[in-house]
Amino acid sequence: MNKQTARQMVHSAMLAPSSHNSQPWRFRLQDDSIELLADRSRALPVTDPDDRELHISCGCALMNMRLAAAKAKVGIEVQLLPDPDNPDLLARVQQCPLLEEQPDLAQLADQIPHRHTVRTDYEPGFDQGELIADLRHWAKLEGVQLAVVSSEAQRQRIANLVAQGDRTLWADTAWRRELASWMMPPNRGEGLAVSALWSPLVRAMIRWFNLGAMMARKSNQLVEKAPLLLVLSSCGDGPRQWLETGQALQSVLLGCCQRGYQGSFLNQPIQVASLRTRLSKITGLASPQILLRLGRPVEKAEASPRRPLSGMLDPV
Ligand SMILES: Cc1cc2nc3c(=O)[nH]c(=O)nc-3n(C[C@H](O)[C@H](O)[C@H](O)COP(=O)(O)O)c2cc1C
Repeated sequence: MNKQTARQMVHSAMLAPSSHNSQPWRFRLQDDSIELLADRSRALPVTDPDDRELHISCGCALMNMRLAAAKAKVGIEVQLLPDPDNPDLLARVQQCPLLEEQPDLAQLADQIPHRHTVRTDYEPGFDQGELIADLRHWAKLEGVQLAVVSSEAQRQRIANLVAQGDRTLWADTAWRRELASWMMPPNRGEGLAVSALWSPLVRAMIRWFNLGAMMARKSNQLVEKAPLLLVLSSCGDGPRQWLETGQALQSVLLGCCQRGYQGSFLNQPIQVASLRTRLSKITGLASPQILLRLGRPVEKAEASPRRPLSGMLDPV
């Protein structure tokens, strides 16, 4: 794999979404492969005690590498968790002869810089027809089930769960401390960006005040008004399925982006174990992994910061 292609693949990977924008990945460039490793120094032990979201984030990064390879017309083979003795080695992307070009993947690759998490309002309505079928197709290719929340009763029950998730998480001082520690000025290149001027104040507010009731009200409205609500669910609940979920998530988000839609996450009921069981019952899904709100943003989406690529490369 030539150096320029390898760097383009890693550059695409680092534009992937990650919980708290923690960017919990490292890359090792070999002659004919790229290894994706978990950077557990960037884990979120309170929010994500099993590193479930860490693996999903890395799965998103892996999908971006696959798409960048398709765009560069480079054949690759992907092995998930190739070394049973090294659980940090999440995937090896090995160059191989190109069997056929994949223009649909190359088109998704074009969306990578344009996809952002948009937490503000969306225009009402969603042209669900063909897009849903496409999204289901992208998820299924990775072995992941995509369920659309279609009934009002189901939506209302999920809104209640999300609100309850907010109240539970915000009541936990360790969770608030962890969230506060990821509120950073944009020049840090990581974390949830708040202006340098405000970041000390925002961090202190989050650390000291339980804003659960306010957040719950806001989340409730977001769910009620969401033009489209989706759940991604895996068959099994371990590192392999989390990596698959991440790959599905990223292709779904990019597929939406292609049509002018963006997404934001409402994962609170998945992060709280007892609520996850209830979400599973409401939706009939075995292992819900991601709850997404999708729509056409009212305002222009902004890019969140990233660390420099040099800091993510491992010495060989
Ligand atoms: C597995 C995962 C879980 C996430 N959970 C949340 C969440 O609960 N709430 C939220 O607002 N954003 C969530 N995000 C979005 C990240 O905060 C976002 O990806 C990150 O800040 C980078 O911004 P970008 O997606 O615009 O590039 C999640 C992202 C991933 C990949």
